[in-house]
Amino acid sequence: MKLFNDEISRRQFLKSSAAASLVSFVPGFVLAAESAVIKKTIPSTGEHLSVMGLGTSRTFNVDSDNAANSPLIAVMQAFFDNDGQLIDSSPMYGSAEAVTGALVKQAENKQGLFTATKVWTDGKRQGIEQMERSMRRLGVDRIDLMQIHNLRDWRTHIDTLIDWKAQGRIRYIGITTSHGRYHAELEKLMQQLPLDFVQFSYNIVDRTAEQRLLPIAREKGIATLINRPYQRGSLFYKVRGQSLPDWAAEFDCASWGQFFLKFVAAHPAVTCIIPATSKLKHMVDNMAAGYGRLPDEQTRRRMIKLIETM
Ligand SMILES: NC(=O)c1ccc[n+]([C@@H]2O[C@H](COP(=O)([O-])OP(=O)(O)OC[C@H]3O[C@@H](n4cnc5c(N)ncnc54)[C@H](OP(=O)(O)O)[C@@H]3O)[C@@H](O)[C@H]2O)c1
Repeated sequence: MKLFNDEISRRQFLKSSAAASLVSFVPGFVLAAESAVIKKTIPSTGEHLSVMGLGTSRTFNVDSDNAANSPLIAVMQAFFDNDGQLIDSSPMYGSAEAVTGALVKQAENKQGLFTATKVWTDGKRQGIEQMERSMRRLGVDRIDLMQIHNLRDWRTHIDTLIDWKAQGRIRYIGITTSHGRYHAELEKLMQQLPLDFVQFSYNIVDRTAEQRLLPIAREKGIATLINRPYQRGSLFYKVRGQSLPDWAAEFDCASWGQFFLKFVAAHPAVTCIIPATSKLKHMVDNMAAGYGRLPDEQTRRRMIKLIETM
């Protein structure tokens, strides 16, 4: 199996008894005794990262004081137990950073944790205060990836991020957008700024990023984080009541969720995908997409055609 330049290590597919007990009610879930977790390479360092990450917008915006005793702890545990690493949050997402911090503290098997959050304010002092607050909320003294949220006041924050990276307070610098906004400006910044990561939307129905952003990321050696892989959940309405095609099994795909995520994961310029979920069965489904084979380019075009007929 060839997955572009990405590393594939052989690992136990399901390690947690919590996740294993779910298999019986996850439709179409294939319990493989052993499979391959897909890791991609961060171009600026060569570090390997699990392709399946986790978003926190809306789904983790709950009461942070009770989060560690809520059903979300099982969701987080299934993420780590299935080789998940990168968790993406933002001060914009209400209590999501504090909830993430509380859940991570409680979880086991989290050695691979890769924290990603954002600065989302105007002004240098405000940005520094907000990033320090994010560290406290996430319960870490170093953030792996700090991103400028929606390009907001990037001229100010970029200098702080460069300083913080030099001091080891963050490891990577990124910038984000979503659902097609600011692409022209983002393209320019990808050429000009010392970015390790760029985050934007990409999914089987919203493929604008294929034209410019993904090729530029590849050419410039910038890692990509993909948000809205389910078009905020609306892709599931499109396929409701429809059977998965037989040929999905050729790339180890057993559900519509895996179909959508594997479509994205197979793009050579995609580093990590961050679907958000509040449900354990969805987490197990999503993580399964980070294992096994991925569709080749011809199959990806077939996948698009199929969805276009629905
Ligand atoms: N500008 C930015 O920086 C920006 C903008 C947008 C998003 N983001 C990031 O990207 C993340 C992902 O984007 P998103 O949350 O907007 O949209 P998304 O991940 O495309 O969709 C999330 C929705 O899909 C549902 N879902 C998840 N897994 C499922 C499964 N296996 N089967 C059925 N339904 C499933 C979730 O509901 P359940 O809870 O019921 O599973 C949730 O409603 C965000 O959480 C955030 O971290 C960043």
